[in-house]
Amino acid sequence: MNTVLVIGSGGREHALAWRLAQSSTVSQVYVAPGNAGTAAEPGIDNVVLDVSNHQAVIDFCRLQNVNLVVVGPEQPLVDGMVDDLSAAHIPCFGPTAAAAQLEGSKAFAKQFLEKHNIPTAAYGEFITVSDAKAYIQDKAFPIVIKADGLAAGKGVIIAENLAHAEATVEDMLEANAFGDAGSRIIIEEFLVGEEASYIVMADGENFLAMATSQDHKARDNGDVGPNTGGMGAYSPAPVVTAEIDEKVVETVIKPTLAGMAKDGMPFTGFLYAGLMIDGQGNAKVLEFNVRFGDPETQPIMTRLQSNLDQLCLAAIAGELDQHSIEWDERFALGVVMAEKGYPLGNDKDNVIQGMDQVPAGVKVFHAGTAASNGDVVTAGGRVLCICALDEDLKQAQAKAYEGVKAITWGSEYYRTDIGFKAII
Ligand code: AMP
Ligand code: GLY
Repeated sequence: MNTVLVIGSGGREHALAWRLAQSSTVSQVYVAPGNAGTAAEPGIDNVVLDVSNHQAVIDFCRLQNVNLVVVGPEQPLVDGMVDDLSAAHIPCFGPTAAAAQLEGSKAFAKQFLEKHNIPTAAYGEFITVSDAKAYIQDKAFPIVIKADGLAAGKGVIIAENLAHAEATVEDMLEANAFGDAGSRIIIEEFLVGEEASYIVMADGENFLAMATSQDHKARDNGDVGPNTGGMGAYSPAPVVTAEIDEKVVETVIKPTLAGMAKDGMPFTGFLYAGLMIDGQGNAKVLEFNVRFGDPETQPIMTRLQSNLDQLCLAAIAGELDQHSIEWDERFALGVVMAEKGYPLGNDKDNVIQGMDQVPAGVKVFHAGTAASNGDVVTAGGRVLCICALDEDLKQAQAKAYEGVKAITWGSEYYRTDIGFKAII
């Protein structure tokens, strides 16, 4: 039986830990630090650990006989958690620091894509304002400007005209709006089409595709308003037809895994390709994430039927080719409930009511929550993701919103149209 430690505190980690705890081969799941949702799950315990201290994580794993660590967020991966735990012979599912550069540095990702002929937007890479400004003078607008490093999903600006682009370049390179993350920038062509995420589990060479999914990154109904981490998601995503699926595998996923292996950085872990799909069904890579998507994880884990621990351990052993993955055929849809000011404000400490009133079969995944004096309170940002399954996407949506309506904390905010693009 396996003892698993999940690193992270968001909705993604709640969903991963919940699914792991249901595996027939898992006896105990720990989450560091977790949230009020993971604390309340049977078979799951939160642990207080400084996860930036890899030795402390190693010590905990030895003490509790943890034989699988699953890392949720990107920062510990970029910081080399997998390298350190692997060196201590603790199986840790995720990419090494070298491979995590696919997300940690947009310049690395773009150079990699170009070198291996993987489709992506045309771009330039800059460290000085004068070079960046010279590059944009004769370009078409809008144009996309990205901070090189990790910027918590905020480092991408779509500049509508030359003045906006020049101001953004100055903000990032001179005024250090994104700190070190923005001391190098990428300027790239604006792509049009439909966005989709394609997520796989990789073992350095082989991969298993996760069920298809699509999230809603814009804050407001109709996919408008500021960009967020994601306001809701559903799986499967009809936009990823069998034909597009095959194209993405052949033109993006296989060459990426082969290229990383060839460059001496084989990729093990969840690989998330953010794609723009044009009218002809051709995909270009917008970004890579080296971890599962949030909130895509929540509906995808709702559908997963295989034992996730077995798959992670097989991936670490380089044996994913000997495994398959089983999905519930039904649609899953998750609606994020956030604090009103999200993504900017920092409202918190509001008591959440009604979580015990959601209809049977609706799953409430926590993200920004904390336990306080016997209550569950908001801890800011995205607070919950309410998920439901049904044979019909519209019914899954209706069920998820029944759950949403049962819950209140006075300043909740959510979109009322999650899934609209897939519901005719
Ligand atoms: P990224 O973090 O690189 O995925 O960028 C965040 C969001 O910005 C994406 O989900 C897209 O909506 C948008 N975006 C990024 N790059 C481009 C591009 N080249 N063309 C159009 N939209 C983009
Ligand atoms: N939902 C988008 C992401 O996880 O990056």
